[in-house]
Amino acid sequence: MKNTKHLNVNEMNFYQLFKQISPEEIYDNVFTLGSKDFFAITAGKEDHYNSMIGSGGGLGILLKKPTTWCILQTTRYTLELIKKEQTYTMSYFPDEYKKQMLYLGSKSGRDSKKMEEVELTSVQTHSGGMSFKEARLIIECKLTQITTPAPDDFYAQEAKEYVKEAYKDVKEYRKYVFGEIAHVWVKK
Ligand SMILES: Cc1cc2nc3c(=O)[nH]c(=O)nc-3n(C[C@H](O)[C@H](O)[C@H](O)COP(=O)(O)O)c2cc1C
Repeated sequence: MKNTKHLNVNEMNFYQLFKQISPEEIYDNVFTLGSKDFFAITAGKEDHYNSMIGSGGGLGILLKKPTTWCILQTTRYTLELIKKEQTYTMSYFPDEYKKQMLYLGSKSGRDSKKMEEVELTSVQTHSGGMSFKEARLIIECKLTQITTPAPDDFYAQEAKEYVKEAYKDVKEYRKYVFGEIAHVWVKK
């Protein structure tokens, strides 16, 4: 009988699990990536990192560079770490990990131990960013810009109303966070 060894995901390292592709090779539909598929945004280093769930945002070209953007409330602890480290990952998971992902969106890492409690396996990328072994797509970004549009910056009536409603209970406008895509990895 052939002696085949089954490798458990937990035993595999980053290079065994993921292969690097270029931003042009991302095969996902950009509209489902931002809406149907919410994602984990992770900032920090192996000794201290934090993740939150994001939705919306997108991918495109900004100032000639492949770029991602997402919209974050100012209170997010992950945003604090993004500003500190100026790099972060956006990780997309197969549907079966929805429950675990939602846990990252259920409380803040500022005053909880959610990163220890979450049932996902953290992994360091080759450039030192943090993500999870269960991810199917990891986009690592270098922070390029954080902008803060005010309600008056919106012209379409529907957008104006949406923004007015969104700002009703928060003291600060949401941050639009842009990051140059530095690396992309997909599950092998
Ligand atoms: C499906 C889903 C989508 C979310 N999308 C966003 C988002 O786009 N921007 C945002 O600021 N918060 C979003 N949140 C809320 C944060 O993920 C949540 O407040 C999280 O606990 C913040 O964690 P942190 O303070 O540790 O960074 C979302 C939550 C869920 C469940």
